[in-house]
Amino acid sequence: MKRIVALFSTALICLGLSAKGETVLNLIPYPQSVQLGKGSFKVAGVTFNGDPALDSRSREVISQFASRIELVSGKTNSVAFPAGLDAVVAKGKAKGFLFMLDKSLGEEAYTIEITPSKAMVKASAFPGFFYAIQTLYQLLPVQIYGKHPVSEVSWRIPAIIIRDEPRFRHRGFMVDSGRHFFSVDEIKKVIDMMAIYKMNRLHWHLTEDQGWRFESKKYPRLTEIGAFRNGTMIGKDNTTNDGIRYGGYYTQDELRDVVAYAEKKNITIIPEIDLPGHMQAALAAYPNLGCTGGPYEVSTTWGIKKEVLCAGKEATFTFLEDILTELTDIFPSEYIHIGGDECPRQRWKECPDCQQRIAELGIKSDDKHSAEDYLQNYVTARIQAFLNSKGRKIIGWDEILEGKLAEGATVMSWRGVKGGLKAAQMGYDVIMSPNTYMYFDYYQSADKDKEPLAIGHCLPLEKVYSYEPYTDLPAEACPHILGVQANLWTEFIGTNDYLEYMMLPRAAALSEVQWSPAAAKDWESFRVRIKAAPAVYAILGYNFRPLDF
Ligand code: ACM
Ligand code: ZN
Repeated sequence: MKRIVALFSTALICLGLSAKGETVLNLIPYPQSVQLGKGSFKVAGVTFNGDPALDSRSREVISQFASRIELVSGKTNSVAFPAGLDAVVAKGKAKGFLFMLDKSLGEEAYTIEITPSKAMVKASAFPGFFYAIQTLYQLLPVQIYGKHPVSEVSWRIPAIIIRDEPRFRHRGFMVDSGRHFFSVDEIKKVIDMMAIYKMNRLHWHLTEDQGWRFESKKYPRLTEIGAFRNGTMIGKDNTTNDGIRYGGYYTQDELRDVVAYAEKKNITIIPEIDLPGHMQAALAAYPNLGCTGGPYEVSTTWGIKKEVLCAGKEATFTFLEDILTELTDIFPSEYIHIGGDECPRQRWKECPDCQQRIAELGIKSDDKHSAEDYLQNYVTARIQAFLNSKGRKIIGWDEILEGKLAEGATVMSWRGVKGGLKAAQMGYDVIMSPNTYMYFDYYQSADKDKEPLAIGHCLPLEKVYSYEPYTDLPAEACPHILGVQANLWTEFIGTNDYLEYMMLPRAAALSEVQWSPAAAKDWESFRVRIKAAPAVYAILGYNFRPLDF
């Protein structure tokens, strides 16, 4: 990190572009390697030439970048993908922006080499070009994110060489649309911000006790009944109800639209159908799927609910397979999240169907687990086999590790880090989203009275930044850590403004955990770089928590 700090001080002396005559490279997440050169490259009114072999998504993102520069600089530029560009580049005669394929780079890697006469960007595929352009945005004056011509700033990028690729392949962010509903446009705004921070997986929590948000053609009552609740508890008092009917859901067309939107930003959406617990809204719609047969209501209070899917009835499995079939038709993701957290056993213990299933399967309790614990393993394994038959893999919350878990499942560690560390050492792939570092529904400061209502714990920016997923993990298990994710649960987050407040600026710190090499992470450096972020958020119209420093 000394090297990076040294770079800043060189920049401070050489370029002197900010108010105090200082230049700071406001790059977040910080790239793998950065070398500042001498001079700068003028971006306004130049040519944008790309390799003729580039695919349509790469061409589109390059053209959008060129249009944005044209708009903010007020100077016309041109975009072309001419045959024979290779030869011109090889002769050293090319000028302007050049976007060239380099198949030696990893899919998400890129290089940027900027001199006063040209800006060369190389990647092997769309993701690398997309991320290179996010970095170029951050090297330009912040007004690049705006939609108006700005003549008071210098439309130049410093001469620089950047080589970059992500540390982790799963760089996730989870939004809970179950507790509170966020519109398609609001979800797209989350996606936009994720893209700026080079995240690539939106985990979309679509079903909850308090609301079912995924339109099913086969089970229409899920949205007719399950998507709406008769009021919501007020604050933290579960004896209250605000009396306001609340709900909403996404149609299949809307979901397909969001999938396509995200794909253009290299973001895969991993949908979650949380099962067999957290299903009270589904039970309100289809009471035959519960152990008692109901009646049930879409929950109006937060907390863990005892009403769960009946694991004894075949109808439950027919339902889940039908829903997952509809879901996989919409979401092309290799991974489907099947939840698995917080499933109380009380109903299963009392239910003749569940007990009959336990007897038929010959399930026995032991000193570690009850028969009902093993019954959840049976549910997980059946759903896993079904999804595998469709070419998909499962992710589940770390409860799925309790008892027996089939090979090929990925464990999402949320109850601290221990479940993830254990799973990785057992040979399972793991995504680390420990509540201790990655629950963005927690307060952002210890001074809770000054913050909007949140779940009790405190997770300030610096704590998010400090997370190191390999801590306490033997080297041989590290490759099982697919990545890191933050989760934004929404019990107390009823508006989009508040959602953004809880996301920002913590998503910036998260991105550095996900993307930057461990050796490049440095809180003091981040504290300097993050100071430019509020201006970006403001221009793009995001709410955010102000910085403490
Ligand atoms: C969880 O926070 N219940 C996964
Ligand atoms: Zn049952």
